[in-house]
Amino acid sequence: MDERFRIRTDDLIAKISADIEAGRIPFCVVANAGTVNTGAIDPLTAIREVADRFQLWMHVDGSYGAFAVLARSARKLFAGMEQADSIALDPHKWLYLPVDVGCVIYRDPEIARAAFAHEAEYTRMFGEEEDEAFVCWDYGPELSRRFRALKVWMLLKGVGLDCLSEAIENNLACARYLESMVRASDDFEMVAPVELSIFCFRHVPAQLKNKSPEAIDAFNERLLVALQRDGSSYLSNAALAGRFALRGCVLNYRTTLGDMEILLEDLRRVARSIPISG
Ligand SMILES: Cc1ncc(COP(=O)(O)O)c(C=O)c1O
Repeated sequence: MDERFRIRTDDLIAKISADIEAGRIPFCVVANAGTVNTGAIDPLTAIREVADRFQLWMHVDGSYGAFAVLARSARKLFAGMEQADSIALDPHKWLYLPVDVGCVIYRDPEIARAAFAHEAEYTRMFGEEEDEAFVCWDYGPELSRRFRALKVWMLLKGVGLDCLSEAIENNLACARYLESMVRASDDFEMVAPVELSIFCFRHVPAQLKNKSPEAIDAFNERLLVALQRDGSSYLSNAALAGRFALRGCVLNYRTTLGDMEILLEDLRRVARSIPISG
């Protein structure tokens, strides 16, 4: 990865070439449109070129991040995503729907059909029209399945894309605001740049400034647990380049800029009860 936690295509090419030389047969490259830890978006157009050069399937994991393509301020980050062979999306993440409604979309569904269709007599559908003859189980591993698509359809019909795009834009604004407050402060620091609505940072109050990296990690780990127990704000964590980071992800349409201010105040308040060691 590069310094923004994105796939380095030169290294990707080197690794694929090494596999081929070792007699292995690479078949797929998985790019990310919003990584779990930092929300990084891989260079999708360049990865498509690598995939073409080595005749690989290109999958994009857009489970968390790809919906941000609906927000004007983030759209350009996803250039090249439309060239993927398949894209994973989780409407139960950034379309605000309840778990679970993970989905995958294919550039050429016939390839998935060739892989997954059972061709058993009891799964054969008869239909005069193309949409009548379509069945989901021909395109993935599941046979019996719940009607997950209903909630996505209801959301799109009931709320509409403009509203979703505005909500996602507001989530992005929250993460960017948090980052600007952290960078302007002298007791917090970013551990990764904000790409979408995820922010990774840590608290370094004055008494901790000249302590070892291990002591800063240990303090923030204790701070995370204390914050969760405190009950006002909720964060998770990430390990980035071997260091411990507090990690937040704004994925609720009711989160406001004010909540970002409350978060930093909660952290400062809770931190005062944690002894500093090391
Ligand atoms: C980028 C990314 N991919 C995949 C997953 C896994 O998604 P799920 O738990 O819906 O299978 C997550 C999150 O949990 C994610 O953020």
